[in-house]
Amino acid sequence: VLLLALAAFLAYLLGAVPFGIVMARLFGLGDLRKIGSGNIGATNVLRTGNKLAAALTLVLDAGKGGIAVLLARALLAEDAAQIAGLAAFLGHLFPVYLGFRGGKGVATFLGTLLALAWPVGLAACGSWLAVALALRYSSLAALVAAASAPVWALALGRAETAVLTLCLAVLIYIRHAANIRRLFAGTEPRIGKRG
Ligand code: G3P
Repeated sequence: VLLLALAAFLAYLLGAVPFGIVMARLFGLGDLRKIGSGNIGATNVLRTGNKLAAALTLVLDAGKGGIAVLLARALLAEDAAQIAGLAAFLGHLFPVYLGFRGGKGVATFLGTLLALAWPVGLAACGSWLAVALALRYSSLAALVAAASAPVWALALGRAETAVLTLCLAVLIYIRHAANIRRLFAGTEPRIGKRG
C-alpha cells in the first residue's frame, strides 16, 4: 500500500508538469494562460501559431501519462499502473505548481490510455482525429473521444479500463463546460484559428 501511494504521488507530480506553459515560455510565446482560451494545453499553444511548440506540448502532455503508467507497471503491477495513470491525469487537472488550476486533460488522457490498453488508446485517438479532421473543433473531438473510450474499452474486452476511462471522461466533460456552451452557441473557435 505504501508503494502504491508513493507511485501515485510521483505520478501526480509528473502529471502536474504543465508542458504547455513550459513550451510557451521556451519558445518565447508568453504566458499561455493569457492567450486564447487561457487553457494550458496543446490546442491553445497552437493558437499562438507555433505548430512545433503545440506538437511538443501534445507529445509531452500525453507522454507524461504514458510514462507514469509504464513505469508503475514495470516496477510494480497492473493495478499500480491504473492508479499511476489516474494520478498523472489528476496532476494535469490540478497541478500543485499552478495553484491547482490546470488543464482539461485530453492529451494526458490519450497518453495514459495508450499505455494502459493500447487498442483502446488507438481507438480513442482515432475518434479524436476523425472528429478533429471532419469538423475542426478540438474540444468536440475530445468530447467524442472521451465518451467513446469506455465504449471502445468494453467492446475490446477491457472492462477494468472501461471503469477508469469513464471516470476520466466525466472529469473531461466537467472541464469542458465552457467549450460545450460555446459549441452550442456556435462560438467555439475551430482548429487553425488564432486566438
Ligand atoms: O485539449 C483541450 C481542448 O479540448 C480544448 O482546448 O483551449 O480550446 O479550450 P481549448
